[in-house]
Amino acid sequence: MDINDRVIAALADVLEPEIRKPLTELDLVGEPETSWGKIVVPVMTIADPLPYEEELRSTVLKALVDAEIGKRVEVRLVPLSDQGLLRLRQVLKPATDFESNAMSNPIGHEQGRPNQFMEPGSKTRVLGISSGKGGVGKSSTTVNLAIALADRGRQVGILDADVYGFSVPKMLGINRNPLMVDDLMLPPVAYGVKCISVGFFVSDDTPVIWRGPMLHKALEQFLVDVYWGDLDYLLLDMPPGTGDVALSMGQYLPKSEIFVVTTPQLAAQRVAQRSAYAAKKLKLPLRGVIENMSWFTGDDGKKYQLFGEGGGESLAGDLGVPLIAQIPLVPGVREGGDDGVPVTVSAPESEASRAYSKLAAAIDSMGPARVYKSELKVTSS
Ligand SMILES: Nc1ncnc2c1ncn2[C@@H]1O[C@H](COP(=O)(O)OP(=O)(O)OP(=O)(O)O)[C@@H](O)[C@H]1O
Ligand SMILES: [Mg+2]
Repeated sequence: MDINDRVIAALADVLEPEIRKPLTELDLVGEPETSWGKIVVPVMTIADPLPYEEELRSTVLKALVDAEIGKRVEVRLVPLSDQGLLRLRQVLKPATDFESNAMSNPIGHEQGRPNQFMEPGSKTRVLGISSGKGGVGKSSTTVNLAIALADRGRQVGILDADVYGFSVPKMLGINRNPLMVDDLMLPPVAYGVKCISVGFFVSDDTPVIWRGPMLHKALEQFLVDVYWGDLDYLLLDMPPGTGDVALSMGQYLPKSEIFVVTTPQLAAQRVAQRSAYAAKKLKLPLRGVIENMSWFTGDDGKKYQLFGEGGGESLAGDLGVPLIAQIPLVPGVREGGDDGVPVTVSAPESEASRAYSKLAAAIDSMGPARVYKSELKVTSS
């Protein structure tokens, strides 16, 4: 093998950190140059400056050193030219037959532009994390469940659809905007999870006042103009209540499975029921109830039911779906959300993290919902 082939082989498993595909597959590795016994390997970057430059450089270098490419190796990062970016954009997201067919068919403008998750063959499960009420732990559940699924080797993305009270970027510790590859937006990645949020596009102190149609449009863009790649799961952190987002999901994400988060209080359960009924009306399959803040384990090892008990069980019974998880109240969950290091990362062995991994395992093993809704087909034949 010549040096070029050896470099390509050494880097075969090194991913572009945010595209999450091998650099070699994306044609981002240049011809190595040898001078005075030193091998310089050029690696093309998708932004200048690249926010994760050091991470990329050290991962590439380590792979080259491990493969014993040479005694002295150097990695040179070279920003892609505009033309290079354009080429990469085509590689990432060529127009699929599904999209072109749907585009050339008059599909009725209320149905909008087709997205990859609508494709009949899409293997991505879309999980809507909802509840009728604020503050019950939808966002904490979304973030920690996403990380727990990623830990199981799944490709996971979060769409923070809580446009009014977006909180996912902060919980994941992401404090920069997405990178663009031409007109395609790359979701920033934290703890192996891709994330897109309205929070990237508005400043923290401006309240978002959006009417239904704008919201609808924003969601469409987040589904169509974002490079999600081949996801196993797309999680949606839904705003509290029953409204517009669920409506848009019915149209754009007809395969969404809805999970309802509630607390053990019986009063909370009644409110949560409303979002469940909304899902039913939209014919989105309800898959399960997640009870949050179920108990607190004291230093004495005893479980204290601070918020009452039975809410999850009783809601699940009413809705005819299983209660698939009970998540304990653990201070680490709140601290993790505030610090941008979720409890599943900072304390993977904690009681809460174990509950999130059990939840991830349960969702994985229940498999996708088997529904077919003819009225939500994309083409208008
Ligand atoms: N199991 C838990 N243990 C401890 N604290 C928790 C737990 N679940 C959620 N919290 C905390 O409760 C608060 C509300 O949780 P979260 O933001 O996840 O709820 P939400 O339903 O998304 O709220 P909103 O309706 O405002 O979007 C947060 O401060 C969070 O850290
Ligand atoms: Mg929230």
